[in-house]
Amino acid sequence: MDIRFLLNGEVIVLDQIDHHVTCIDFLRETLGLCGTKEGCNEGDCGACTVIVIDQDTVKPLNACILFIAQINGKAIRTVEGIGQKDNLHPVQSAMVDKHASQCGFCTPGIVVSLVAGQINERSDHDTVLAGNLCRCTGYAPIIKAASDAEVLSKPSWLTEDRQKLRSLNASFDGSFPTSGDALAALLVAEPKTQLIAGATDVGLWVTKGLKDLSPVVFLAFARDLAKITERDDHTEIGAMVSIEDLFRWATKNSPSYATLLRRYGSLQVRSAATLGGNIANGSPIGDNPPALIAAGTELCLRKGDHRRNIPIEEFFIDYGKQDLQAGEFVECVRIPKELDRLRCYKISKRFDQDISALCGCFNIHVKEGIICAARIAFGGMAGIPMRASHVEAALIGKPWLDTTITNAQEAWAQDFTPLSDARASANYRIKAAHGLLRRYFHEHAGYMTDVLEVQP
Ligand SMILES: Cc1cc2nc3c(=O)[nH]c(=O)nc-3n(C[C@H](O)[C@H](O)[C@H](O)COP(=O)(O)OP(=O)(O)OC[C@H]3O[C@@H](n4cnc5c(N)ncnc54)[C@H](O)[C@@H]3O)c2cc1C
Ligand code: FES
Ligand code: FES
Repeated sequence: MDIRFLLNGEVIVLDQIDHHVTCIDFLRETLGLCGTKEGCNEGDCGACTVIVIDQDTVKPLNACILFIAQINGKAIRTVEGIGQKDNLHPVQSAMVDKHASQCGFCTPGIVVSLVAGQINERSDHDTVLAGNLCRCTGYAPIIKAASDAEVLSKPSWLTEDRQKLRSLNASFDGSFPTSGDALAALLVAEPKTQLIAGATDVGLWVTKGLKDLSPVVFLAFARDLAKITERDDHTEIGAMVSIEDLFRWATKNSPSYATLLRRYGSLQVRSAATLGGNIANGSPIGDNPPALIAAGTELCLRKGDHRRNIPIEEFFIDYGKQDLQAGEFVECVRIPKELDRLRCYKISKRFDQDISALCGCFNIHVKEGIICAARIAFGGMAGIPMRASHVEAALIGKPWLDTTITNAQEAWAQDFTPLSDARASANYRIKAAHGLLRRYFHEHAGYMTDVLEVQP
């Protein structure tokens, strides 16, 4: 089976593709297109940013952790295909005019991110650029260039690429199931197949771990798994919904959850990573699981035609061990509608592009001054994302007063014995967890707010 895509307007057809080949290696090593730079090779620096286009979206993605097979049927634009030497794209001209480049190593990635931002009509340049590291210019001139390019018209190649995509005739079979049903059937027949969703974890197993993943299946083409459906009392969110799409949904439904998601990786990482991957990998420091546990979310798992629904906290059994059978996959989650009491706090050393040292999520219901229900969940405090059941028990039935929060302090140590590591000490983690409960209390009382202004 071949894969086909557009690269800077030209049709590329590859047969006999190796599923381990990343987009950056294909561009630089196979084609000699060296404008796309390799910095970290793990999704952190943005030097390798490319634009991936389909009929509905224009995404900036890190080519170093994007497998070439993931762009089957799509169009990709690298820095070489954005403007030409004698006909620069307005973003490139603005970068020159504002002296926004010194060594130039980061510049192609920055230009590509800004062009994607300009096409998507974004004016939140800090967010657009949070995944692009520049060590020598400083961001002020780059942001000035971004502002200059803000109101300019969209490039003509965008329309041309979309027209050409209509007649590309890419085929999707074998490793590219186009529905949840097809994926379910494939996994029953081949339960050892390695699932690849956004590849923001799996990509690193190849680039850093040099792992052989075969056989693999790419989930990105199962469009029915990427839907958000509003039901009467809950919202159903498909496993293949990207973190960026989830963020946009959350801006309308839970600003605090949106604030947490805004701090997940960078725009490039959020545009690739999926909710299903962030749950299924079982990471103790993934940002979604504590929020979903505190919200009271149900997880829907599917094997063949059989589905089972469990409270999401039951999915995480032990470090590296999830309640997932061979041939089973995460299909969707069901989040209750009532999210107004949910607050999510991410503690990390950097605001952007950093993994949580701890992530605490609270959902406490107070009626006539008495705490009648509490769901508190943490990441970074144990080998799995977990509820603080002793703290919850210490709160329920008590008055919603500062003294109740103080009295619950000892229960934290009953719930968690966190590790000391590079991100935080055990002592810091316990103290921070207690502090976050107090913060929630103050927010509840209206003394402070932690919700960012975010551009949906
Ligand atoms: C630079 C960088 C920054 C990051 N920042 C953050 C951050 O701030 N917060 C955070 O939480 N994470 C962060 N991550 C981690 C990463 O984004 C997440 O773990 C991610 O959600 C994984 O999702 P994915 O779609 O990319 O999964 P993949 O990498 O494709 O897969 C991950 C695992 O999940 C399995 N899987 C995927 N989908 C399913 C499914 N539907 N059913 C069953 N199994 C499935 C795969 O087989 C694989 O084992 C970061 C990663 C990078 C590279
Ligand atoms: S090379 Fe650093 S993000 Fe890709
Ligand atoms: S111009 Fe040197 S790293 Fe950005």
